[in-house]
Amino acid sequence: MVCIQNALIIKSLNKGKYTMVRDNNTYFPSSEWLENAHVNSIDKYNEIYEESIKGPDQFWASVADRIDWYKRWDKVSDVDYNEAKISWYLNGKLNVSYNCLDRHIDSGNGDKTAIIWEGNDPSEDKKYTYSELLVRVKKIANVLKSLGVKKGDRVCLYMQMIPELSIAMLACCRIGAVHSVVFGAFSADSLRDRINDSSCKILITQDTGVRGVKNNIPMKENADKALTNTPSIDSVVVVKRTGVDIEMVSGRDVWWHEETINASEDCEPVEMDSEDPLFILYTSGSTGKPKGVLHTSGGYLVYASYTHEIIFDYKKNDVYWCTADIGWITGHSYIVYGPMSNGATTIMFEGVPNYPDFGRFWDVVDKHKVNQFYTAPTALRALMKEGNTWVESKNLSSLRILGTVGEPIKEPEWKWYNKIIGKENCPIVDTWWQTETGGILISPLPAATPTKPGSATLPFFGINPVLLSDEGEEIKGNNTQGLLALKTSWPGQMRTIYGDHKRFFDTYFSQFRGYYFTGDGAKRDKDGYYWITGRVDDVLNISGHRIGTAEVEGAIGKANGVAEAAVVGFPHDIKGQGIYAFVTLMTGVNSSERIFESIISSVVKEIGPHAKPDKMQFAPALPKTRSGKIMRRILRKIAENDVDSMGDISTLADPSVVESLIKGSIQV
Ligand code: WT7
Repeated sequence: MVCIQNALIIKSLNKGKYTMVRDNNTYFPSSEWLENAHVNSIDKYNEIYEESIKGPDQFWASVADRIDWYKRWDKVSDVDYNEAKISWYLNGKLNVSYNCLDRHIDSGNGDKTAIIWEGNDPSEDKKYTYSELLVRVKKIANVLKSLGVKKGDRVCLYMQMIPELSIAMLACCRIGAVHSVVFGAFSADSLRDRINDSSCKILITQDTGVRGVKNNIPMKENADKALTNTPSIDSVVVVKRTGVDIEMVSGRDVWWHEETINASEDCEPVEMDSEDPLFILYTSGSTGKPKGVLHTSGGYLVYASYTHEIIFDYKKNDVYWCTADIGWITGHSYIVYGPMSNGATTIMFEGVPNYPDFGRFWDVVDKHKVNQFYTAPTALRALMKEGNTWVESKNLSSLRILGTVGEPIKEPEWKWYNKIIGKENCPIVDTWWQTETGGILISPLPAATPTKPGSATLPFFGINPVLLSDEGEEIKGNNTQGLLALKTSWPGQMRTIYGDHKRFFDTYFSQFRGYYFTGDGAKRDKDGYYWITGRVDDVLNISGHRIGTAEVEGAIGKANGVAEAAVVGFPHDIKGQGIYAFVTLMTGVNSSERIFESIISSVVKEIGPHAKPDKMQFAPALPKTRSGKIMRRILRKIAENDVDSMGDISTLADPSVVESLIKGSIQV
């Protein structure tokens, strides 16, 4: 095994006591407390890793005992990548909400704080114990039942970061309904498409939302627009968050607080099969409409729970904070299901890092004495730029472990995070994973793995990464680079694309037979460490948000006067990647402020404000091959301002197009 071999090299560097050594930009776990970590040396990591790869079924069976089953499984796994067939813990029976709530109450931890909700306004916060949360979950679960929701029905959740979002998710799993959370910044059109794709029966939303300086995000109004064309929706449950006047459609809309007030507090969890769907979460691909990534109950919960405990070295009394939005997978796995299945205290933050000022994150860490802090590199870059005075007056001594996710972290922000936030005393876990993987696949273990700024380091237990050549050959050895794929399955892996199993196979398993292809490129260095280089397909990563170029192009194309658009990414100081749109207009239409505005509003309407292009260039023509395919490679070079190494352009139908694009003016 490549990784074991390499890890042996590291072993010799990491012997004995933990002392802070920096060697060739390698950082070693340092504090005394690390001695008590779940995995406290690289030797132990190697040992467990080896065991997990040699006997995966045995390994994952022992891990699965961490959760409560009504009935244990008959068979640990049944996987065939050639058929895109993936099952774990076959015929096992469980309930996810039971595991996230009742179980902790039964073991005497009912009074423990489950969720600390920190509002957008620093003066607003709330705490919910496990017992309080269970009552709320049961009540809304009964409301859903009274609205006709049955096991297997889909429920769409379109909300900001308010406690009712987590409560609604847990209520869905209590009664076997499948939730589909739609990120609160998505437009009415996006919401409509997602509701229709999985024919959701109920929508849960809120009156308006509060986020940073925005104090009236029109959630219900957007929902109403979406619902003009969603035949499957029977009812809408509305949470009162701000109390502003909104319209309620009689016979369709009900208030959460009114319905729950007299709802029964009895609601037995439904027995679910391991492979019964738990949730759908839409994510962008390189082509077509967003894919409904489907995760199931048993394997997902085992994986989210185990990775949360081991990678964040979670201990019973820790206060854990992941700053992500629950509208993305990070929030599902590492705000809700991972932490809550472990009985953790998890923080849910409604606001943004720069409101009311750039010290907000550190105020919250100080206020709630956060032990593990997990965020995105883009947030670190934005905060780093504002200087250290926002950090210096805060007491961050509770911090033990720092994490990042969503995009490659570069050396400057890694070092800032380590020094200014972690005071060189908190290991950083740079965690690589995807919506599709359900949980973290490549990451350091905080007390075991020496880290290198910018590397996600080594695979988690049971994870078998490989690098492939373009031809699909496995590239062995170190000091190499290729396409990142997984050779074997793990319990948290997605099971299908909702309603389109063929697309699941085509997207992930058809290009390289027998592997799950991630869409990312990666390097493996001399020590076997992985360095993710980014997407190799037409998926952009804007501030850690995944956006398909095809979706943005489609939205631009809908603006009046637009003939064609091509979208590529370019390096952006804060966002990691920015969106660069090349647009050609119909004959007789001239570029103008008006057309520019109508393109932007079309993107906001079709997708949401987070997909607005950062740069737009109107061009007379786009570079195409003779068969009419747009050569994005060339557009990327122009967007990156790297026009001297354009490469071969002789296959273009009209090579002179390139010259005019280079000369073309940048409008934004
Ligand atoms: C893509 C998945 C899963 C969490 C949030 C994003 C990129 C994710 C890292 C990392 C470099 C990363 C990859 C991946 N990515 N984590 N630590 N280092 N790149 O989930 O929206 O499904 O996006 O995010 O390109 O494929 P997602």
